[in-house]
Amino acid sequence: MYRHEYHLTPPSGWMNDPNGFCRFGGRYHLFYQHNPRAPRWGRMHWGHAVSDDLIRWERLPVAIGPDSFWDGALGCFSGSAVERGGELCLLYTGVSVLGQYQMLARSRDGVAFAKERRPVIGRRSLPPGGTGRAFRDPKVFERGGAYYCVVGGDWNARRVRGTQVSLYRSDDLERWRYVGPLLRGVLPGGGVFECPDYARPSGKDVLFASPMRLPGNDDDEFENLHSTVYIPGALDAERGGFEPDDGPGRYRELDGGADFYASQTLTEPDGRVVLVAWMQMWKRTMPTAAEGWAGAMTVPRELSYEGGRLVQRPVRELERYRTDTVETGSFIVDGTASVPGLRGNVCDIELTADLMGASEFGLRLFLAPGEGAGRPCATLRYDRRNASLILDRSRAAVRIASLDGAEAGCDVRTTRLELPGGLLRLRLLLDRSSLEAFADGGAVAMTSLVYAPDDHTGVELFSDAPVRVVELRRHAIAGVRIG
Ligand code: FRU
Repeated sequence: MYRHEYHLTPPSGWMNDPNGFCRFGGRYHLFYQHNPRAPRWGRMHWGHAVSDDLIRWERLPVAIGPDSFWDGALGCFSGSAVERGGELCLLYTGVSVLGQYQMLARSRDGVAFAKERRPVIGRRSLPPGGTGRAFRDPKVFERGGAYYCVVGGDWNARRVRGTQVSLYRSDDLERWRYVGPLLRGVLPGGGVFECPDYARPSGKDVLFASPMRLPGNDDDEFENLHSTVYIPGALDAERGGFEPDDGPGRYRELDGGADFYASQTLTEPDGRVVLVAWMQMWKRTMPTAAEGWAGAMTVPRELSYEGGRLVQRPVRELERYRTDTVETGSFIVDGTASVPGLRGNVCDIELTADLMGASEFGLRLFLAPGEGAGRPCATLRYDRRNASLILDRSRAAVRIASLDGAEAGCDVRTTRLELPGGLLRLRLLLDRSSLEAFADGGAVAMTSLVYAPDDHTGVELFSDAPVRVVELRRHAIAGVRIG
């Protein structure tokens, strides 16, 4: 009932981080952390899917799994992929009883993989301060004819239990040399920077990481247990350093919703940078487990860097699956408004509103059928006084809880959004049990899961004073059918 139509999910069992996102043999490949046996985390395999357009995915057999000493404890953790000499090469973390190492596997046909026998970045190549207990998630990239990779891990100096992102360099993917640290920090409880990444959207150096237990701040950032951040700056690949534009220790949240983690980018030959993330958060109840699966990917997003901000837009390929478009002329919302044809839970909604004198405007989504203001739904609303976009699923039909008191709450998420001219531009992707909201052309993104029965497809607009909807289009999304 909750399975998404146009978001990649595991056939059965568990999915977490995207891995090995790349192009090989003319197709996109997306691997993911996978437990084929049960819809909960377990010894990790790499699930595998391929696509021609980043939207419609075809599932392939599991690519790698625990079958050697080096991955015998917890399996094959996250990593990345690159083509070399006609082979699809996976760089991943093996977790043995002794610790974590970077491993290599190769394939000629992109389906069957053979592992190297030994780690390619092992104990002797640990970064300064690294213990090897946490040393994971290698992300490979090419620059100036060489391969580089960033790896997250611990960093213990005197009494500090910190975390770092280290840069390595190689000419052949087999022999790696430590270059230097790109990022260092201290996270509560000895948390680490997981799933680091580096890309150049619009030619700008950007570092990505998923810091565990990053404390929240007054800007309503980092409200989830773990966060995904980006850091614009300048990379010195020769000497191994990263100069952050915002100064040290400052991170920007990539997505302000409740379910987004461990993103990974792919850079296309024409320079397009595409990002995908795990649409979930650790330590939450997962209603889909009753259906035998858990975890999904976000819709891939094109990244650009505009006016000093990272901008995310759903890849344009999604537009090919739009159908059944409902479009309105401009109209006024004053109180609550239902628009004929504006409904659905597998759809793409574009809306531009002039807030005029209103201080609040929003949408009720996944709305239960029938009359009455108290019907279950999720809301996305703009609060002009606090310059905030608020995504609230506390009235959804099925509640999600944070486990072990890991988070204060996981229903309401808030993101700062300044609207100097009072013009709110929104793009919403609904897919049965998910909502991805993009505002201000993609400068703000919020992704949360929302669980509601199939017939909760109502959409309403609301405001506390007259608001002019300038543009409104709702497209159904159909024909994706993930095989
Ligand atoms: C992030 C993460 C990675 C690790 C993987 C294990 O979600 O904890 O650091 O490689 O998941 O499944």
